[in-house]
Amino acid sequence: MTLQTNPLTAGLSDALFPQPCSLVIFGGSGDLSKRKLLPAVYNLALDGVLPTNFDVVGFSMNDFTDESYRAFAKEGIDKYSRRPVDPAHWADYERSLSYVHGSFSDPASFQRLKAKLDEIEPGFGVPGNRVFYLAIPPSLIELVVNQLQAAGLVSPAAKDGPFTRIIVEKPIGRDLESAQKVNATLAKVFDESQIFRIDHYLGKETVQNIFVMRFGNAIFEPLWNNHFIDHVQITVAEEEGVGTRAGYYEEAGALRDMVQNHILQLLCVTAMEAPWANSADVVRDYKLAVLNCLRPITGKDVEKFVVRAQYGPGFAHGVDVPGYRREEGVKPDSTTETYVAIKCYVDNWRWAGVPFYLRTGKRLPKRASEIAVQFKHVPEVLFNLNPERPLEPNVLTLRIQPDEGLALRIGAKLPGPKVRIYPVKMDFRYGTTFGEQSPEAYERLLLDVMAGDATLFMRRDAVDASWRWVTNILKGWKESGSRWLPEYPAGTWGPLEAEKLMTERNRAWRTL
Ligand code: BG6
Repeated sequence: MTLQTNPLTAGLSDALFPQPCSLVIFGGSGDLSKRKLLPAVYNLALDGVLPTNFDVVGFSMNDFTDESYRAFAKEGIDKYSRRPVDPAHWADYERSLSYVHGSFSDPASFQRLKAKLDEIEPGFGVPGNRVFYLAIPPSLIELVVNQLQAAGLVSPAAKDGPFTRIIVEKPIGRDLESAQKVNATLAKVFDESQIFRIDHYLGKETVQNIFVMRFGNAIFEPLWNNHFIDHVQITVAEEEGVGTRAGYYEEAGALRDMVQNHILQLLCVTAMEAPWANSADVVRDYKLAVLNCLRPITGKDVEKFVVRAQYGPGFAHGVDVPGYRREEGVKPDSTTETYVAIKCYVDNWRWAGVPFYLRTGKRLPKRASEIAVQFKHVPEVLFNLNPERPLEPNVLTLRIQPDEGLALRIGAKLPGPKVRIYPVKMDFRYGTTFGEQSPEAYERLLLDVMAGDATLFMRRDAVDASWRWVTNILKGWKESGSRWLPEYPAGTWGPLEAEKLMTERNRAWRTL
C-alpha cells in the first residue's frame, strides 16, 4: 500500500505511517463509537489508508456477539458516516470487527479480551500492537487502566517489541485537582509517550490549516502581532441544545465542556510562536508557552472578564424550543452555564495589550465556528477622516465550520466618480477549491495514534496549564456566591452582558 500520495497521511506527520495494530474500543457500543469512531475507521478503510494488518475489537457491557456488533457498526456507519456503506466492500471489511462482552470491574472480562486478541491477531497479521480507546465516562478511567495492567495487556514503552497506546477522551477531570489525579493514574501504568489525550478540534482540517496558513506563507506572520492586530475573536457557536447529554452537561457546563479544551487549543494555534521543528514535542512546547502566558483571571476580575449565561425558551429551526431548565434530565433550578464569553490576554511581547475574546454557547442562531483576527484601524487621515463613520478595519476570518475556509476583508473603491470605500471579501473555500469532502477529525487523529504521532494530542503539562487557568474562573464563580445567571432566548447570540466585554474602541462581537 502506498500512503505517500494520500492527503490524509501527507502533511504534518508524513514521516510517520500507521503501524499494524488492533484497535480496542472500551465503550464500543456507546454513542461516540456509533457516531464517530466506527464511521471514522470505516472511512479510513475506504480510503485504503489503514494499515494492511488491522482489526477492531469493541468491548462493553452490551450483550453483542461478533455478528450483532457488526450490524451495530453498520447501522452507525449508515447513519453517521460521511460516506455510505459500500456493499461491495462491506463483507470483506466487517470481518475485521469483533466484540467482547464484558464488565469494566470484572478481571475475567479483561482476560477474555486478552484471549480474544491473542486468538484473532495472528489471523490479521497483527504483531501484538494494541491501541486502547477509552470511550468511557471519566469515572471509569482508573478502573480500566488498572484492569489493563492487571491482565497483562500493557507492554512497556520500548523501541522494539509490540506497542501499547491508550487514547483518552475528554473530559479529563473537572478541575485542576481532579485532572491531575486522572493523569497520575495514567502515568502509573503508561509512559507519557503511550498516552494520546484527544481533542477532536485539533483533528479538524481547518484547525490544522491555521498552522499552514501562518507558517507556510510569508505575508501573515509579519502582521501577526500587537503592532497590527487590534483584537482576536474566537467563536464556537452551536445551534443544538443539550440534547440527550444532560447527565454529563449538568456537571460540566460550557466552560469545562468547550473552553478548557477546544477553545484554548484554538487560542494556542492562533497565538503560538513559530516552532523550530514540526515534531510533537516542539509544537506542544510552543503551544504550552501560550497557556503559560495567559493572564490569570481571578477573584473579582472573574465578574469583569467572564460572562456566563443559560438559554431560555426560544426558537431553533423555526420551531419553539424549551429553555435549558426544561430540558430532559436538567434540574429545574440548574445554574449550569450553556454560554460563556471571556476577555483575556496573552502576556508576552507579541500579544501584549491585544485582547482575545472567546465565546461559545448552545442554542445560538447557527452552528458556526471561526477565529477572526481584526486589524487596527487605518490612521484618521485621507480616507478615514470621519470619526462618526470610520472605515471598516481589515479582518482575517479563519472559518472552522461550516463553509471551511478563510476570508480577508479589505476596503475597495466603489465604482463611480466619487471616492467611496466599501468593504469586500477575498474568500477561499475548501469545498469549491479542492472539491473534496474533508476527512472527519477522528479519522486523522486515529491514524496519527497508529503512527505514534502525538503532535495533535494534549500533553499532560498542557492539560494542567489549561485547567489551572479555567479553575481560577471556576473558583471566582464559586466565591461570588451568586446563583443568578443571565438568560438568553434560544436562537439568539447570547446575553446582553457579553456586549459589555467589548466596550472599547468600537469593538463588537461579530454577527456570523
Ligand atoms: C464536544 C462537546 O467536545 O464538542 C459537545 O462535548 C459539543 O458539547 C461538541 O457539542 C462540538 O463538536 P463539533 O465538532 O460538533 O463542533
